[in-house]
Amino acid sequence: MLDFTVIRATLAEAYDLAPSLTLAQEMADIHARMDRVVPLPDFARYAPYIRAINRLKAEKNAVILAHNYMTPEIYHGVADVVGDSLQLAIEATKVEAETIVQCGVHFMAETSKILNPAKRVLIPDVTAGCSLAESITAEGIAEMRAKYPGAPVVSYVNTTAEVKAASDICCTSSNAAQIVAALPEDTIIMTPDQYLAQNVARDVPQKNVVWWAGSCIVHEQYTAEDLRGFRAGHPETRIIAHPECPPSVVAEADYSGSTSGIIDYVAREKPAQAMLVTECSMASNIADAYPEVEFMGPCNMCPYMKKITLEKILWALHAGAEEVVVDPAIAAKARVAVERMIELSRTIAK
Ligand code: 13P
Ligand code: SF4
Repeated sequence: MLDFTVIRATLAEAYDLAPSLTLAQEMADIHARMDRVVPLPDFARYAPYIRAINRLKAEKNAVILAHNYMTPEIYHGVADVVGDSLQLAIEATKVEAETIVQCGVHFMAETSKILNPAKRVLIPDVTAGCSLAESITAEGIAEMRAKYPGAPVVSYVNTTAEVKAASDICCTSSNAAQIVAALPEDTIIMTPDQYLAQNVARDVPQKNVVWWAGSCIVHEQYTAEDLRGFRAGHPETRIIAHPECPPSVVAEADYSGSTSGIIDYVAREKPAQAMLVTECSMASNIADAYPEVEFMGPCNMCPYMKKITLEKILWALHAGAEEVVVDPAIAAKARVAVERMIELSRTIAK
């Protein structure tokens, strides 16, 4: 449990963290990547933390892997690598630094540890969970296998190491359909995201896809009715949805893809107006790169992703905490499922 009284007092003694407009102006190159969404007075509060974190990373031979849902000051200020879940897993296999600081949720940090057992993996807030990862256990996988004998289990990376270890192969939102299509069996068990599975079932009609009833608390909140209402008022806006949304929502969208797929779509199409049907930081993180695009409409915040802050990242590097530990026997089995996914993704991409 993080004790903020101790953390703040310790950090204030070790680093100059007072808000500074002068420092913010000196760091104008970093601010320029987010000035459409982060006003200068806010950046003046972040700048001392960004400076301290970037210095500590170098001193401690650490690298920061950050998911696309991190806030702009993390995404543009301190991350060494940003990406979707698949990209972060692939990048984790290439890390040379001694320490990985995972800015994302716990299953992402576990995935980095599984792929890099010899490295120290830190997560700035160990309680950053995920409603999908919490929805299934290894017993749930055994239940599904008993119900559908002989069917392979494809588990979303949004799962614990134990669940990965009990699965045949992992997938992410960017490769789920291709992985399901590439497996030789007719019936495929997908866990734990029922909506991702239903979206895959629509795209891969030759397979009998069966699923576990988990869902993402961020994406399940969108409804087709909301999107239709929005489109009626804004017919020119491109609606871009993550595949963790229910299929009825994806059906209303102009495009559906992983978080990096969404960024690539905006980069390619440069629509005058876009509504990203996903986590709120997505639009904020790309707002400066695409000034010609007006990002419209509501978004939903992931309370787990938002647990990661600059203050906690600085503490993680300063104190070497929280270290992610995965039982080596479980990690070895989970690695097989994750590496199978990475390998199959590479083959499919060729
Ligand atoms: P991707 O970045 O792989 O699209 O995943 C989204 C997500 O919800 C991660 O928690
Ligand atoms: Fe989990 Fe959804 Fe948050 Fe992603 S956005 S970490 S799937 S709860």
